Amino acid sequence: MSKMTLGVNIDHVAVLREARRVNDPDILQALYIACENGADQITIHLREDRRHIQDSDVKNIMAHSKVPVNLECAIDKEIITIVSEVAPHRATLVPEKREEVTTEGGLDVFRYEEELRFVIEQLHDSFVPVSLFVDPTIEAMDKAKELGAEMVELHTGLFANLWAMLHSNLPYSNHSVKELELPRYELQERLESAKEALQSAATHAKSIGLEVAAGHGLNYQNVHEMMKIEEITELNIGQSIIARSVFTGLAEAVQEMKKLTTRDA
Ligand code: PXP
Repeated sequence: MSKMTLGVNIDHVAVLREARRVNDPDILQALYIACENGADQITIHLREDRRHIQDSDVKNIMAHSKVPVNLECAIDKEIITIVSEVAPHRATLVPEKREEVTTEGGLDVFRYEEELRFVIEQLHDSFVPVSLFVDPTIEAMDKAKELGAEMVELHTGLFANLWAMLHSNLPYSNHSVKELELPRYELQERLESAKEALQSAATHAKSIGLEVAAGHGLNYQNVHEMMKIEEITELNIGQSIIARSVFTGLAEAVQEMKKLTTRDA
């Protein structure tokens, strides 16, 4: 069994802090607690709109993290210059729209092929390995390889939405996913297809020499499905861990997720 790396995304701690624009909760405290309780990696997203993580957070986290830092960023000139200077352990390139609540959909590696080629080269010049956050298709895996990325992070958003529409109270809430308000048998079929797409993309990616991560919408209920995909060796999880920490504290929330994402040797 391959080892699983748990990347804990602490952006939401900064979301809470920015809601009041005071240094509370302290992101460095979140970093320490996550690292002490099972995070193998810290993931943060420096957005163009600086909605949560600030430039100073990136520098402080780089200076204090005892585990590797995975810095998510868009293919934006200013941001890439900062990322190249900071030189995190890895950069994950993600799509970014100002109006979105969180990252929606994977990078369009075909539409932004030329920009990506340039940015990946720039990051490599600063010795920063690159992961591309992409939808789970064979074509995207091939393109990521061709563009020179070391890794792909498979977007699990569709899988997670289907899971939640089938197995949680989401359809009865204000946040029901409108386009997935479908009969249960159809949701089940689509969920199976989403899992198959993730498995096939992971198998193909590994076969062409890419490392494979996955993330978005993973939680304590659905993560076991990702654990079955042997080729996936890293999960980046934010919302569900920080949400649980409101009730249990961050230490316990990370420990619980670590238990669920540990593979037997
Ligand atoms: N991976 C990537 C590339 C992301 O953009 C995000 C969301 O910021 C995550 C993982 C974590 O997603 P979630 O907060 O839904 O667990």
